[in-house]
Order: sequence, then C-alpha cells, then structure tokens
Amino acid sequence: MGLSDYLVRNHRRVVFFTGAGMSAESGVPTYRGKGGIWKQYDYESYACQPAFEADPARVWEFHNYRRKLVGACKPNPGHELIARAEAASHGVTVVTQNIDGLHQLAGSRNVHELHGSLWRLRCEKCGRRAESRDAPLLDPHCSCGAWWRPAIVWFGDALDGEVIDAAMRAIVSCDLLISIGTSAVVYPAAQMPLYARKAGAKLVEVNPEPTPMSASYDLCVRESASECLARLCEGI
Ligand code: APR
Repeated sequence: MGLSDYLVRNHRRVVFFTGAGMSAESGVPTYRGKGGIWKQYDYESYACQPAFEADPARVWEFHNYRRKLVGACKPNPGHELIARAEAASHGVTVVTQNIDGLHQLAGSRNVHELHGSLWRLRCEKCGRRAESRDAPLLDPHCSCGAWWRPAIVWFGDALDGEVIDAAMRAIVSCDLLISIGTSAVVYPAAQMPLYARKAGAKLVEVNPEPTPMSASYDLCVRESASECLARLCEGI
C-alpha cells in the first residue's frame, strides 16, 4: 500500500498523535537530537517535582524562558491542515505530547494534551487553577501566596487519568492514526498508538528519522510534518 491508501479524507475517524517534531517548523526546539532542550538543560534540575520543591525560582526561570520562546512561535502549515481536517468533519482528534498549545492556536478543538500545558497553572497548596499566556509570568505566585506549579507532566509525574481515558477512547475507535514528530521513547505515550493497531486501525509514522516504534507502523514517511501532511490531507 502506498501513501494514497492513507489519505485523511478516505477515513472516518482519524487520530493525529503528535510530538515535538510537529512544532519544529514553527521554531519550537525539540527535546532530543541536535539543538534539543534536554541537551542544554538537565531535566533533573528544571523539569521534575524534586527540582521544583528544592528551587522553584530556578524552575520558573527555565519555564519563563520557554514561555518567551514558545510564545513567539506561530502554528505552521501542518497544524493548520490538521485543524482544517477537523473543521471538514473527518472525525479528527489530536492526541499530543506537546505543551505549546499550537494545535489549539491553529483552530483544533478536539485536543488531548497528554503532558499538560505550558500555559496552565495549578497551586499545590490551595488547589486553585489558572491560565496565563504571560511570557514571562512575572510573579508566578497564587493569590494564597504559594508558588504556581506549571501544569506540565514533568519527569516522574503520572499522567492525568481523565486525559488518558479521553485519548484512549479516540485511539481505540479510529480507523487511521498518524503519528507525527515523536521520538517514541517516553512512556506511556510511546506505546499508545499500538492500541489503535490492535483495534484494527492503519498506522502511519511521519518522522525524518526512524524510531524504536517504526516497525509497528504500516507506513513510515521520512519527511517533515508539514510536507507529509500536505500529501495526507490532499483534497481537504
Ligand atoms: N517533522 C517531523 N518530525 C520531526 C521534525 C519535523 N520537521 N523535526 C524533528 N522531528 C522528529 C525528530 O526526528 C524526533 O524523532 O521529532 C522527534 C522529536 O523527538 P523528541 O524531541 O524526543 O520529542 P517528543 O517525542 O515529543 O518527546 C516526548 O519527552 O521530555 C519530553 O515531555 C517531553 O513531551 C515530551 C516527551
């Protein structure tokens, strides 16, 4: 089967399963590989609960750096094609590991953020939740006085059960899953697309590089996200 057998318009329920490579063409750095965030910043000092408890100001310095960088980025043509496919009623769900909010900015509504959001906040003292796109967020404190905690799934955190349930419902009921721009090394996200396959869906991987999961896909396209999406979303 060739790429023409995987066109979005010929399927009834499509899941776009996205990772950092989806936003690379918007200028958001990926996590691994050349120029990756975890090459410059040691996640044990900046992106885990023990680091936040030991030095919240340092963790916020890193997250404000990311807010500034990501806040200046715009959705790319790939994000826009996915949003257009949803608007054209192709039963589209986005399941993303990204915290940048670019799918929503492009117009996608049906988005499940497995790893939380750079723009959401929660207070671990009083339980309050908030959203802010300030970049930087100058005073990252809740009105109760405690530090805001970025509502991001950091290393060692559990994923939100409700988000997993919603994502899995879409995954096991789709007939086409298109994975885009993920290195497929972070669990449990890495294995989620395999449930679509088990349930009978076709699987496409879009990534210039092979991943540890490539062998589980029906079709691997070694192209950039926007280039391949232009072909998969033909006629939408
Ligand atoms: N188009 C498609 N894929 C691309 C592009 C592009 N233009 N540019 C890079 N890629 C691919 C890379 O080849 C790589 O396989 O995107 C992938 C990015 O991998 P990671 O940086 O590991 O990002 P991701 O898989 O989303 O990381 C998973 O790890 O620490 C975290 O929580 C963070 O959600 C993140 C998780």
